[in-house]
Amino acid sequence: MSDYSRLLRHARTAQKRSHSPYSRFRVGSALLTAGGKIYKGCNIEVSSYGLTICAERTAIFKAISEGEKKFRAIAVVSDEHGFISPCGACRQVIMDLAGDIDIVMSNGRGEWRVLKTSELLPHPFGPKDLKKVQRKKK
Ligand code: THU
Repeated sequence: MSDYSRLLRHARTAQKRSHSPYSRFRVGSALLTAGGKIYKGCNIEVSSYGLTICAERTAIFKAISEGEKKFRAIAVVSDEHGFISPCGACRQVIMDLAGDIDIVMSNGRGEWRVLKTSELLPHPFGPKDLKKVQRKKK
């Protein structure tokens, strides 16, 4: 297993930027590209709560918008005792845009564990399913 301590340190730095005045649940994330670059993200809450974005999606959208296409791992940290695990929406986004990468989940004590996207989101819906429909239409 890779040593993800550096990636987790970046996620902790990102967590400091968390804008979470409503939940007060501060989350940080760091996404590692295939080329070794790291993109950080934090959760950003909006007064119209449903517009809130999670830390993982912030990191992924930042990277994609900078032209990144291949990824190795994403780390997530919070202050919770337990290991933080990406929400369902983020699992879908990770699978769609980053694929079956390592998801590094940390707890408040600095311990971490790794699961693959496919372990958190088995039998996913994805771009391949849309292609099937488009082919049938023609
Ligand atoms: N949140 C994340 O940023 N990532 C997760 O993996 C779980 C939840 C955020 C969304 C919201 O700002 C706050 O945590 C409480 O749900």
